[in-house]
Amino acid sequence: METRHRQTAGAVRLQILLLFSLFCRAFSEQILYSIPEEMAKGSRVGNLAKDLGLNVRELPLRKLLVNSENKYFTLNEEHGNLYVNYRLDREKLCGEIPLCVLNLEAVVENPLNIFHVNVAIQDINDNTLWFVKNNIDLEINELAQPGARFPLEPAQDPDVGINSLQSYHLSPNPYFVLELKENPDGNKYAELVLEKPLEREKERSLNLILSSVDGGEPVKTGTVPIKINIIDANDNSPIFTEKIYKVSMRENLPKGTLVLQVKATDADEGTNARITYYFSNIPQRVQQLFDLDASNGKITAKGILDFEEKNSYTIGMEARDGGSLTAHSKVQIEILDENDNAPEVTLTSVSSPISEDSLPGTVIALIKARDRDDGGNGDVTFRIKDNFPFKITSFTNNYYKLLTDSTLDRERTPEYNITIIATDNGSPRLSTQKTILLQISDVNDNSPVFEKASYTAYMPENNPSGASIFSVKASDRDLDRNTRVTYSILSSNLKELPLSSYISINSQTGVVYAQRSFDYEQFREFELQVKAQDGGSLPLSSNVTVRVFIVDQNDNSPRILYPSLGADGSALF
Ligand SMILES: *[C@@H]1O[C@H](CO)[C@@H](O)[C@H](O)[C@H]1NC(C)=O
Ligand SMILES: *[C@@H]1O[C@H](CO)[C@@H](O)[C@H](O)[C@H]1NC(C)=O
Repeated sequence: METRHRQTAGAVRLQILLLFSLFCRAFSEQILYSIPEEMAKGSRVGNLAKDLGLNVRELPLRKLLVNSENKYFTLNEEHGNLYVNYRLDREKLCGEIPLCVLNLEAVVENPLNIFHVNVAIQDINDNTLWFVKNNIDLEINELAQPGARFPLEPAQDPDVGINSLQSYHLSPNPYFVLELKENPDGNKYAELVLEKPLEREKERSLNLILSSVDGGEPVKTGTVPIKINIIDANDNSPIFTEKIYKVSMRENLPKGTLVLQVKATDADEGTNARITYYFSNIPQRVQQLFDLDASNGKITAKGILDFEEKNSYTIGMEARDGGSLTAHSKVQIEILDENDNAPEVTLTSVSSPISEDSLPGTVIALIKARDRDDGGNGDVTFRIKDNFPFKITSFTNNYYKLLTDSTLDRERTPEYNITIIATDNGSPRLSTQKTILLQISDVNDNSPVFEKASYTAYMPENNPSGASIFSVKASDRDLDRNTRVTYSILSSNLKELPLSSYISINSQTGVVYAQRSFDYEQFREFELQVKAQDGGSLPLSSNVTVRVFIVDQNDNSPRILYPSLGADGSALF
């Protein structure tokens, strides 16, 4: 060590002398020493006396001194040796200045002379390399192209010259190489150069180590870890988990029912992977029925879904990531029928009244039945509520006929409230009922009927002519004119006289009048046939027998047969 220092010291001394001879001509006598920094206190710099050409034996006389302001060195006045006063740190004394020279003056007397002594402090590699930061964090976009450069912070080395930072090394890795660069001020730094594209989806970050080395002996190094975060470039679009989402749901579910949840994934990161869901291509009407949670893709029913209104919906879906890349899918929603509709029954035509003589199978009404539900829920069957003489048969498609099933009789049942019940085949079954008022119109199918099977009348003789003898009455179960009865006398057993001369009948009331006075003594009884006829266009009639008895009155005085009466009517006895 000692030898080496001396050699170095000698070499440098020559150079420095040259420099000093150029710049410091004013000094006639100059001495230059060169010592390494960091020598222990008391290490010898050189023999100043000898170097000044003084004889050691002369020294006590010449009184060699170094100036007292100098604190770096001490002089042994006896031998003339110059020593280091304390450990000298070049970096502290001179920093980055490559030439670190300390001056002192040496004074001798007899004769008085001043010598300028320069001591060059040589750098030794006493500083390790270090980085200002404990680690280097880089963020590099995954789309960075090969050739992209990323300057790294330089390492610090207070040493100078060969002892200072010389180069950098990078830990082996497949992506980056290192390139050494030098600033105009001489500072060396390194740049990472990308050689191969990064693949963030494979590796999200890289950990490298940067080491710096100086040229000293032994070599000193400094290392710093480099952490490279590979920033996502939103190079992945979202992807829906399904091309088409299919779902079935019952109709009439409450608002807010979850229909389904769509999902899209994104291989990116952060906002580039944050997916927002949208409806796309959705008609206004459908928009009113479904809600979408943009953040989680949940589709809920916003309104009541009605199978009968629409039984399937197709909605376009869009997933969009934070970088505006999109994906598309579809949602098919099938609405399942519930038996929520009763059959609808419409009376298309009703023939009422119908004639009571209508033949069985006469059409009374045409009925349209429709059920908006599907399948069995929409299958309609009919029945008639009461045990009426009617039936319902299918006609075409949704049409049914209401028919008479037997003969009718207005006189028995003049009208029917026919209640028809349409029932579907759902569960539960739903029904609708309709009532048809069917009136039966009259046909003259009933003859007038006399109140009695036969009549017997008693009439005192000598009745005044025009007196009513008795009356007959017939009724008719038909209606209106079919029931309007008129009476007439058909015949009698009175052969002698024309009927009309002794008896008549009021055709409207059935009252029988005597047209003349009857005389018991002439005939005591007679019989006649009275006919009652209704007003139908094909009139019906019936007849009844009336027996009339003439009742005797005391209308004859005893008759004196002899002697005969006188002219005044008195009898002559
Ligand atoms: C039929 O219904 C109507 C109206 O409800 C009612 O006035 C009428 O008396 C009913 N007729 C029969 C025979 O029930
Ligand atoms: C009177 O009625 C009877 C039976 O009801 C019938 O046999 C007869 O022919 C009728 N007489 C006349 C004159 O119509």
